[in-house]
Amino acid sequence: MSANAFPAADKQAVYDVIRERRDIRSTFTMDPIDDATLIRVLGAAHLAPSVGFSQPWDFVLVRDEARRRRIQRLAQRQRDDFAASLPSDRQRMFDGLKIEAICSTPLNVVITCDPTRGGPHTIGRHADPRMTSFSTATAVQNLWLAARAEGLGVGWVSFFDPHELARELELPEHLEVVAYLCVGHVSAFPPAPELQTTGWARRRPLSWAVHDETWSSRTLPGGVTVSLLDETVAAITPADPAVLARAQERQAQLTKPAGAMGLLESTGERVAAAVGEWPPPMPSPVAIAVFAGDHGVHAQGVSPWPQEVSVQMAANIAAGGAVVNAAARQVGAEVDVVDVGLAADLPPMPGLLVRKVARGTADATRGPAITPEQCQQAIEVGIDVARDLVAQGNRLLVAGEVGIGNTTPAAALVSVFTGRTPDEVTGTGAGLDEPGRAAKAAVVARAIEVNRASADDPLHALAAVGGLEHAAMVGFLLAAAAQRTPVVLDGVISCSAALVAQALAPQVTDYLVAGHAGVEPGILAALSTLGLEALVDLDLRLGEGSGAALAVPLVQMAVRMLREVATFESAAVSGKDETPARVTEVEA
Ligand SMILES: Cc1cc2nc3c(=O)[nH]c(=O)nc-3n(C[C@H](O)[C@H](O)[C@H](O)COP(=O)(O)O)c2cc1C
Repeated sequence: MSANAFPAADKQAVYDVIRERRDIRSTFTMDPIDDATLIRVLGAAHLAPSVGFSQPWDFVLVRDEARRRRIQRLAQRQRDDFAASLPSDRQRMFDGLKIEAICSTPLNVVITCDPTRGGPHTIGRHADPRMTSFSTATAVQNLWLAARAEGLGVGWVSFFDPHELARELELPEHLEVVAYLCVGHVSAFPPAPELQTTGWARRRPLSWAVHDETWSSRTLPGGVTVSLLDETVAAITPADPAVLARAQERQAQLTKPAGAMGLLESTGERVAAAVGEWPPPMPSPVAIAVFAGDHGVHAQGVSPWPQEVSVQMAANIAAGGAVVNAAARQVGAEVDVVDVGLAADLPPMPGLLVRKVARGTADATRGPAITPEQCQQAIEVGIDVARDLVAQGNRLLVAGEVGIGNTTPAAALVSVFTGRTPDEVTGTGAGLDEPGRAAKAAVVARAIEVNRASADDPLHALAAVGGLEHAAMVGFLLAAAAQRTPVVLDGVISCSAALVAQALAPQVTDYLVAGHAGVEPGILAALSTLGLEALVDLDLRLGEGSGAALAVPLVQMAVRMLREVATFESAAVSGKDETPARVTEVEA
């Protein structure tokens, strides 16, 4: 222990304050804050570190009710705009959330930042002017913690157009608002963030955030360094047998003939067991990750579409204009496009995650499509995307993709991992005729042969004949399983990734739901090896995650039945072979 450390009790108090600080919206009282306390809290903020000791902050105390009502109206407008932008699943959750306490606190404190303070020679700001705002944020945190120690609550409101707010506060033009804080006494400090309690988001484990030397090794100090893939595989456990038994028992008691809801029955039971909670939470909100990549094997004429359609369609999906977006809106899901390997670059767009490992793969008929390092990187992209989506509160994931030519690597993987011939599992993709399909099957066969791809070495096979979006999906499926979050598979690409994931971690299949059967022959071949049955068959052959998205309400219905349908006993309905009560009475 350091000689400079505080005594144990003081140290503990610091950690307690940090842990028990909360963003408060609902539990404020209007009791006034005495001046001495307020000065102590502002003094703590003023002791914050700052770049070049520039101390760029100022504190504007706002108490005037009329002004606060005007400011609240500004926040309300932003809230309405934000709510309108949400998928319907999220909108429903957001409706119940309070996001400000502007008029229900005795005091609002605005913390501003002066980017010019300290002059042109401010030490440390020359390379990155953002340091001024960062310095001001440290003052906010000091204020927040000191307030907590004093028993005062703080609620940070960021639902503002900063210029509108600055005008309303009549700030000099050169100032920026960093924080708008509602401050007051509270009736209680909630033990956890409200966004966690309501299921909007979850706290990420510390181990996800600590990187040891390289990005891919996430190890807490003193821990054993393992790759992200190995760590993820090790975290996958089988679905919960006790919850499965409970779900099956409940299913048998529901007011319907046994088996009358067909595949939905086992789907609900499997999803409950995967999540491992009873009663099973509704699989909502839902996020669809669309992994995008290009393929060197396109040069072999395996698709009638030009390669640039991949990036164009990825842009269309990110902009909300594709079939998968319509399907997502229909079922209330969010869509995230992940550029893991597009040949061209997309401009920044909301809903686009740029995680590019390479600009397309190499032609697998001439050697490995990607290197082992690229394969690992792409898998890690998928792991991180799944982790983020789960931490954002999603309870059901959908694996989608876009990439001209990507049914060819998918067919190759399906052939390798199911033992079927390339001809058996190669389909027409996005519109080949029969001679085109036969030529494509020959390309698949050549890729497997040239690379000696074999199910005995799943990662080698994935890198040799797969694609970047396939590899990312492998990581995505594994990480979802490690987080006990079910994933709905879409077409042949996600099914091929599931086969690789199964080879790496057989229990991953407990967490997978087959969305649809589709036209590609590789889907049914893969599902048979995965031991899964498709929920619907609508002759779809689009990909993007569209078919899986359409299966989402079925998965939700399967769980809702377990949660809501009455039992024979609770509804006083006689069972099939039960002797009618009336007769029993007469006989008695
Ligand atoms: C920069 C920033 C802006 C925030 N803006 C808002 C906001 O506008 N409305 C709100 O209700 N909470 C806001 N919060 C609070 C967060 O939602 C909260 O910190 C988070 O859910 C974790 O909860 P906790 O602070 O109680 O630990 C903001 C927090 C920060 C750091």
